[in-house]
Amino acid sequence: MWDFFETVRHRHSVRHYQPDMPVEREKLHAILEMACAAPSAGDLQSYHVTVVTAAAGREALRRAAADQAFVAEAPVVLVFCADPERSAGRFGERGRRLYALQDATIAAAYAQLAAVAAGMASTWVGDFDEEAVRGVIGAGPGLVPVALICVGYPAELPAESPRRPLAEVVRFLGETEG
Ligand SMILES: Cc1cc2nc3c(=O)[nH]c(=O)nc-3n(C[C@H](O)[C@H](O)[C@H](O)COP(=O)(O)O)c2cc1C
Repeated sequence: MWDFFETVRHRHSVRHYQPDMPVEREKLHAILEMACAAPSAGDLQSYHVTVVTAAAGREALRRAAADQAFVAEAPVVLVFCADPERSAGRFGERGRRLYALQDATIAAAYAQLAAVAAGMASTWVGDFDEEAVRGVIGAGPGLVPVALICVGYPAELPAESPRRPLAEVVRFLGETEG
C-alpha cells in the first residue's frame, strides 16, 4: 500500500487501458467511497456520480467527448455532475455558482487518487459536450456534468508531465518578509 505522497506522485493521466481487465466491484466501491469522503460545502455533497460500465454507454460518452478513444477503452467511466440547486438551498447564489462545482471537482480528484491507491489509473476528461453527456446518463437539466473520470488498468506508462516551479505558482506572505 502506497503512502499519500507516493500515490500523488504515481498519478498520471493514462490514455490506454487494458481491454480485458475489468475493475473489480470492491475496488470500484472503494473508489466511490473515497470520492464521497471528500469535503463539501456544508457537508451537502452537492454532486451526483453516474458509473458507466456498459460498452454502448462508454461509446456514447466517447462521441460526446470529442471522440477521445480512451473514453470507450476504459472499462469504467465515472461521470461527476454538480447539483447547483442542492447547494443553493443552503448557500444561495454562491452555492449555485461555486460550491456545487467545487464539491463535484474535489470528489472527482479524490476518485483519481483512490484509483491509483487501488493499483489502477485514470484520466480526467473535461472536453465534452454537456448536453450530449446529460443525454447519455439520462440526467435532467438540473445536473451539470463537470468531469468524466476514466478508470481502469493501464496499458501504457506515461511520461511524467512537467509542473511549473513552485516559486512561480506560490507566494509566501510571512511576517519576516521585506
Ligand atoms: C479540468 C481538466 C480537464 C481535462 N480534460 C482532458 C481531456 O479532455 N482529455 C485529456 O486527454 N486529458 C484531459 N485532462 C488531463 C490533463 O491533460 C492532465 O491532467 C495534464 O496534462 C497533466 O498530466 P497528468 O495528469 O499526467 O499529471 C484534463 C484535466 C483537467 C484537470
